[in-house]
Amino acid sequence: MITFKNPAQFKKMEVAGRCVAKAHEAVRSAAGPGVTTLQLDRIAEKVIRGERCAPSFLGYRGYPASICASPNDVVVHGIPDTRRLREGDLLSIDIGAVYQGFHGDAACTFAIGEVSPEASALSAAAEEALWEGLGKARPGKRIGDIGAAVEAVARREGYGVVEGYVGHGIGRAMHEKPDVPNLGVAGRGVRLRKGMALCIEPMFNLGTAATRVDRDAWTVRTADGSISAHWEHTVCLTPDGPLVTTTPVAINLLEATAGR
Ligand code: MF3
Ligand code: CO
Repeated sequence: MITFKNPAQFKKMEVAGRCVAKAHEAVRSAAGPGVTTLQLDRIAEKVIRGERCAPSFLGYRGYPASICASPNDVVVHGIPDTRRLREGDLLSIDIGAVYQGFHGDAACTFAIGEVSPEASALSAAAEEALWEGLGKARPGKRIGDIGAAVEAVARREGYGVVEGYVGHGIGRAMHEKPDVPNLGVAGRGVRLRKGMALCIEPMFNLGTAATRVDRDAWTVRTADGSISAHWEHTVCLTPDGPLVTTTPVAINLLEATAGR
């Protein structure tokens, strides 16, 4: 876990985060029926390198691509391949980039063409849970406050909330301490301080929370074959407030919630 010491470091986190957001935009506008996830991978890598960043997933523990593309029952870590996307797929895309040693990491879920109302609602709930969790990313709060906020949304809607894969600290490495679980007890766990950076990443299943891993040792699927949704952002606890870096324009959550 690093704690950021100077504004220049946060600036680099912002550059990496903005790059991730740009790659997401490019992938999303290219995605559609007939497009392969390998094509999306190439598009993302090109954008990332064009922003003078590097794809942080590529080569990470031997991972063979720049993005994770996780359709339908794939929860996370789907490897891009030559399968063509189809109308009705619910697709999660996860992208990481590193700029001068500092990382950004974000995931979103979207529909290929039209999906069922159940699929839309699942993705919307996971996104809502992400923002509930981000709302707890403040100095003085604890890791358990984030988990409890995320979990509450899943419980309210009756979704399975994945336990075996968690959010994480981020900074000079993509994965740093502390773990950021999607379940928890408010008021428990590591106390958040200025200078920390975290990735919060709810994974919700339409069915049970149980998962299994394919023989490729990467692809994580729901055990019951139900569909899954994944949303993630990087947030830096800067002296000026919690800053979500992985959006097209960084969002200062203090300013965003002022007056509410
Ligand atoms: N974004 C994922 C995470 O948050 C990391 C992808 S794993 C990789 O943990 F191997 F694909 F890089
Ligand atoms: Co992550």
